[in-house]
Formats: sequence, C-alpha cells, structure tokens
Amino acid sequence: MVGASRGRQRPRPERRGATGLSDILAGQPTEEALLAELYDLEHDVIREDLVFYREWSRRADGAVIDLGCGSGRLFSPILGGGATRLVGVDGSPALLDRARTRIASDEVLADATAAGRLELVVGDVRNVHRHDRFALAILAGVIAHLDGPEDALRALEGARGLLEADGLVIVDLLGPGGLPPHDLPLSIDWERQMGDRRVVRRSRLVRHESPEGLRVDYATLTDLVEADGTIARLPAGFRLWYPSPGALVGLAEEAGLAVEATFGSHDLNPLDDGSERCIAVLRRARPDAGKG
Ligand SMILES: C[S@@+](CC[C@H](N)C(=O)[O-])C[C@H]1O[C@@H](n2cnc3c(N)ncnc32)[C@H](O)[C@@H]1O
Repeated sequence: MVGASRGRQRPRPERRGATGLSDILAGQPTEEALLAELYDLEHDVIREDLVFYREWSRRADGAVIDLGCGSGRLFSPILGGGATRLVGVDGSPALLDRARTRIASDEVLADATAAGRLELVVGDVRNVHRHDRFALAILAGVIAHLDGPEDALRALEGARGLLEADGLVIVDLLGPGGLPPHDLPLSIDWERQMGDRRVVRRSRLVRHESPEGLRVDYATLTDLVEADGTIARLPAGFRLWYPSPGALVGLAEEAGLAVEATFGSHDLNPLDDGSERCIAVLRRARPDAGKG
C-alpha cells in the first residue's frame, strides 16, 4: 500500500496538464505510456474499496458514470455489481489507453464494451456534458486533484447534472486521519518489479494548511533499475487539495446534493477526525427541496 511504511497514506498523485485540463500525466518529462504503466503498478494494488463500489453499484441498479476513472481499476466491481451501463471519463488519454488494455484482457469488460455497455471518454470532470443520465456518479480519488473549492464545486454540480432524479454521487478521498500530520522528508515509499525492471519510488511531501482544507505539494522520484544496473530516474511534482469533511459537505449542498450518508472507511466506519477516508454519498436534491 502506498506510504504504508509511515502509517499514513501518501496521496495519489495528479498533475495539471498544459492545456489546463487536470491530466494526471500531462507535462511530465517523459513518455506518457511509461508513466501510465507506473501509475497502474502503484494503483492496481489498491483493492480495499472494490467491495464498496460493487455494493453501491448493485444498490444504484442502473447506469453508472466513473468520473476520473484512470485506467479503469473500478470497472470490474461496478459492472460486477450489476451496472446496466458504465461510462468512464478521464482527462488522461494515456490512462484511458491503459483502460483499453485492461478491457482487452478481461472477458467481462470486453463483452460489455462489445455490447455497448462500457464506454470510455476523454474529458474534464469539471465539464462533462452528456444527453444520457445515470443512477450513480463516482468521484473516487479525484476531488483532491482539482485546484480547490471552485473547481470542486464545478465537478459536483457537473456530477449532479448527470444524474437521474434521485441519483447518487459518491465522493471518496483521503480523510483527516489518512493525511500526514507533518511534512515528510524524501524517503522510499515502495519498491516493486515491473517486467525485468525494478522500480523504486521515493517521495517528499510539504503541507500547507489553508482555510478551505489542506494543500499538499508532493514530489516523487521514480527510479527504473534495468537488469544491467542502469537507472532511468523520473522526477514529478503534484499539487493536491484535501477539503475537510465539513467543507466537502458544504460544497455538496451548494451544488444541490443532499448528504445521504458519510463513511470514514470503505468498511463503513463512521466519519470522524481520525478517519482514513472521507466518503460522502450524496443524493440529487429535488429542485423544490427546502422550499415552502
Ligand atoms: C488518483 S486517480 C483515481 C483513479 C480512479 N478513480 C481510481 O480510484 O482508481 C485520479 C484520476 O483523476 C483524473 N483527473 C484528475 N483531474 C481530472 C479532471 N479535471 N478531469 C478528468 N480527469 C481528472 C486523473 O487523470 C486520474 O486518472
């Protein structure tokens, strides 16, 4: 698990693209396909949320849109939960290419694609326009990658606009107890094998408390060690933003979303100041809610 050696999770990185679209890989000083492969190496080990998304997809009992889907880590549990249709949206074409590779190697995902039930779209979660509507919109690990409350509000309003009446949005990000309580000096996060290359990830993290939440400057150094001992070193830098649970709920309400439930973990523990995750299940409020 990322950063597990320090007892706190390192954030999942994202970097803003040159176009202004938040593309997790854009602007990195190397080829995007390689970075997308490294992204999967880092993220595919995260499995503790898969049952959660399977269950909420089952409950939603309809079409699902996975906003900021990355390489489609959540596609199997969403379709396995019975989603009638699944649309994955991400700002990174390289990660969507990885998603296509994942689909091609998975019979259920490949069949869903062939049947027109699984669709991938390059897009910005702050600005998704579609004619179809969804029973469930998922923003998993995405809000932290937007540039603060204004962008988060746009993403939440956008997600609301994609919902059927009574549809749900799930927002899922690191909680107060999952964030490092102090700056972290450069040190090793993990070492893993990628084909015949050894990958060593180091990172450094600087925190900035702000009224709207915690901002984090996150710098990584990824070494790819070849079998002959030569090293390719990939530096990257990311800016992340973590709203407090209260700030997130305030933004959701401003976006016309009512809080259905909050959780502090994917095992449904209550959300409090020590929670590893901050998960909000939000329901599309009816236009006349709160009037009269
Ligand atoms: C930490 S990853 C999470 C991926 C996936 N939801 C998961 O849980 O495995 C964040 C994803 O959000 C995407 N992303 C960040 N900002 C975005 C934006 N404004 N529009 C579209 N995608 C965005 C990144 O490209 C990346 O794939």
